[in-house]
Amino acid sequence: MKDQFGRELSYLRISVIDRCSLRCLYCMPAHGAGFEPWGELLSYEEIIALTKCFAELGIRKVRLTGGEPLVRKDIAELVFRIREIPEIRELAMSTNGVFLKGQARKLKEAGLDRVNISLDTLNRIRFQQIAGIDRLAQVLDGIEEALVCGLRPVKLNTVLLRGINEDEILDLVRFAIERSIEVRLIELMPTNELIQLDPEERFLSTEEAKEKIEQAYELIPVDTYDSSPARVFSIKGTGARVGFISPLSNLFCARCNRLRLKANGALKTCLHGKEDLDLRALVRSGVPKEEMKRKIQEVVWLRPEQHFLNDTQVKHKDFQMSHVGG
Ligand code: GTP
Ligand code: 5AD
Ligand code: SF4
Repeated sequence: MKDQFGRELSYLRISVIDRCSLRCLYCMPAHGAGFEPWGELLSYEEIIALTKCFAELGIRKVRLTGGEPLVRKDIAELVFRIREIPEIRELAMSTNGVFLKGQARKLKEAGLDRVNISLDTLNRIRFQQIAGIDRLAQVLDGIEEALVCGLRPVKLNTVLLRGINEDEILDLVRFAIERSIEVRLIELMPTNELIQLDPEERFLSTEEAKEKIEQAYELIPVDTYDSSPARVFSIKGTGARVGFISPLSNLFCARCNRLRLKANGALKTCLHGKEDLDLRALVRSGVPKEEMKRKIQEVVWLRPEQHFLNDTQVKHKDFQMSHVGG
């Protein structure tokens, strides 16, 4: 399945729930996050039916996101069912790590390949400041358990926040070095006005973070041969890597291969674009598979060439990240 600019779509991010166990400053409002009523969420049956359509259209990689995917009941059951779809070669999850310790083994056994875990700070007080709740210890336990259970490669996601975790960049890199894993430093993306910080005031570029790291370590570029938004470097003399995700300063839309299915069944062909198709309405009205696939192909063909985050005139930023899953 291709879009009008020749980009092949092979990666589907499925948000399984819009609720979360944390309230990160850059993601959610402190109160009144406006969650979907449970009945509005796609059921596992519906997610499986839709994933099969996508698989037939060329999707080969699936990532489960949220909100927080581990908040949804029996998520390992969904992992198991997606694993049964033969075309899906890679199945990953992005999680905040809070409930990972108790679930990592079950997820691995159900067929999950790997996890990306959010980690913005190693300081307990600061974690509470960023995420609203004191859960750093649980997240750190979750990271260790993911490694023990072989949900590898484990990658850490750090959102760069000027004046908040700016002084911890090297500590987070050392944390990754000690475990021979990858840490990805992410530029803060502006979303809706309800988030709890000013995206311009808190923005810190990956270029600046890279310079800081290069004062202590030599970075060697790694060709990852995929469409990942991260520019990856190995850290010389260690088994660790650092990735830079720069949606604002280094546009990666030209090789973007992903689609997003929201927990309420809306299909988004660009993270920052509009909702393109209500798949829940289609699946609930019993539309035949071939027609469903045709409708998906139609909206995918029309997907925008790039996002408009750098254009202050365009107001496509009014979505809540927890509703889409990053
Ligand atoms: P890998 O499969 O390990 O490469 O993971 P990933 O980077 O695809 O997924 P993850 O959920 O870990 O995303 C990391 C960060 O990249 C999050 O902050 C996402 O919001 C951001 N991100 C992922 N895809 C896109 C995209 O298409 N556009 C933009 N602007 N940001 C993205
Ligand atoms: N800007 C950049 N990254 C964000 N994430 C959530 N909100 C934002 C934002 N406004 C990240 C989370 C998680 C990933 C799925 O998305 O930290 O790692
Ligand atoms: Fe939850 Fe992730 Fe949003 Fe933090 S960034 S509030 S962990 S969904």
